Amino acid sequence: MTYFPYRVDQSFSFSFQYREICSYVNIDITNSILLYGPSGTGKSFAVQSLSSKYKTKVGTSTNHSRINPIIRTIFQDEIEFSIPKPIQRFEILKFCAMDLNLEKDVNLKEINDRCHGYIAADVAALCRMALEQCDIRSIQQTAEPGNLLISNEDFQKGFQNIRISSLQEKASVKKVDSVKWSDIGGLDYVKRTLEESVIWIYKHFDAFQRLGIKASKGVLLYGPPGTGKTLLAKAVATESSAHFMPISIPELIKSEVGESEKAIANIFRIAIQCSPCIIFLDELEAIFGNRDSSGFLGKKLVSQLLLELDGLNAVDQGVVILAATNNPEVIDTSLLRPGRLDRHVYIKPPTSEERISILKVLGNRMNFAQDMNLEEIALKTEHYTGADLKSLIQKAAFLAFKRYRHNKSITEKYICYDDVLEAIKKFKCSVSIDQLEQYQRFSKSLK
Ligand SMILES: Nc1ncnc2c1ncn2[C@@H]1O[C@H](COP(=O)(O)OP(=O)(O)OP(=O)(O)O)[C@@H](O)[C@H]1O
Ligand SMILES: [Mg+2]
Repeated sequence: MTYFPYRVDQSFSFSFQYREICSYVNIDITNSILLYGPSGTGKSFAVQSLSSKYKTKVGTSTNHSRINPIIRTIFQDEIEFSIPKPIQRFEILKFCAMDLNLEKDVNLKEINDRCHGYIAADVAALCRMALEQCDIRSIQQTAEPGNLLISNEDFQKGFQNIRISSLQEKASVKKVDSVKWSDIGGLDYVKRTLEESVIWIYKHFDAFQRLGIKASKGVLLYGPPGTGKTLLAKAVATESSAHFMPISIPELIKSEVGESEKAIANIFRIAIQCSPCIIFLDELEAIFGNRDSSGFLGKKLVSQLLLELDGLNAVDQGVVILAATNNPEVIDTSLLRPGRLDRHVYIKPPTSEERISILKVLGNRMNFAQDMNLEEIALKTEHYTGADLKSLIQKAAFLAFKRYRHNKSITEKYICYDDVLEAIKKFKCSVSIDQLEQYQRFSKSLK
């Protein structure tokens, strides 16, 4: 058992890329190859495997554009080692897990679906971490490693500890916490729209192509702060098996001339390379800044974004854009025209039915007392957003805590209906009616 980590590490290169290279070599079209791509994609491993079997000159590089062109001409061929697509990644995962003793209910397909943006080395590291967790359990229970099978929990712990390498540095990508559709109360219509316009595009790729469906390239979620726009995007990341690239817009704003445009072009290049991929631009209004100086840069960023959007073929290339903003009025209207971010979804504050669902979701994480009346609370919280409801319940929890501290005889700790009623008295919801009317007007202007 102890040699597994070593073997998993060794095998982080994977069969499909290796096969591809061998087929090049076998058909004898080249005897010198340059392998390039992000670190950890398996270049060196491929070299090791090749050198024992074939007489070839092989060079590797993580940034081939910086190699002297004269040196590049020495190589007859160049092969790009890119970030694997989900199907390829599944092959890598199966390869890495081949020698692991897994419990029956460990579902590699589900694990693969959670590995957004992982390269081969990351997949190998995940397997190694799951094995380590399993060994820790084994030592605790049987005083020695290797006596237990690797469980789903072990993989979960692995996910918590892993830092994915290449995609992160390359395109200002942040790590997304896992949010399920069921963690979001209400918003059923929005969930359906996202499923149709963002997830179907690659889930039903063949049918879309056969029927010649021109899918939308992008969806804009807009609405008041705290209505769950970012939360919805995180759920799309968790629930879809595509890569998810959340872009930090402030990081795109670079001071050197031309660097920002390059950064945007780079994002699209990587997205196409590792399709299917969803590019998420949160707080889109940040591109536009509000000072004159950033206004100029904002315009350049927008024109680069338009250029990339217009050049994109969403269905063929498997890349869709998801954007969110709470200030849709400052967004350049050229971005919202047909063929660009042309699906617009207004995320309103929840209806009273939806407030009940949100309170139920919040209740899963907090202890509500038996007397809690969610229907009544929903009626008393008109115009509250999801975020408002969350902070209301937080306040109620604090009041409950104070009450229990005051009355030392009670040991159970629950949030009672009265705590919430007390909290409502002091609560001011974050979006005013005026603001809501403004969003309403904007949504009408788009139709
Ligand atoms: N429908 C909902 N169901 C459950 N929780 C919600 C819901 N809407 C909002 N929340 C809670 O409010 C928090 C803030 O929501 P989120 O960050 O998604 O708002 P947003 O619309 O992106 O706001 P902003 O426009 O300010 O970026 C969430 O993390 C979540 O805890
Ligand atoms: Mg947000």
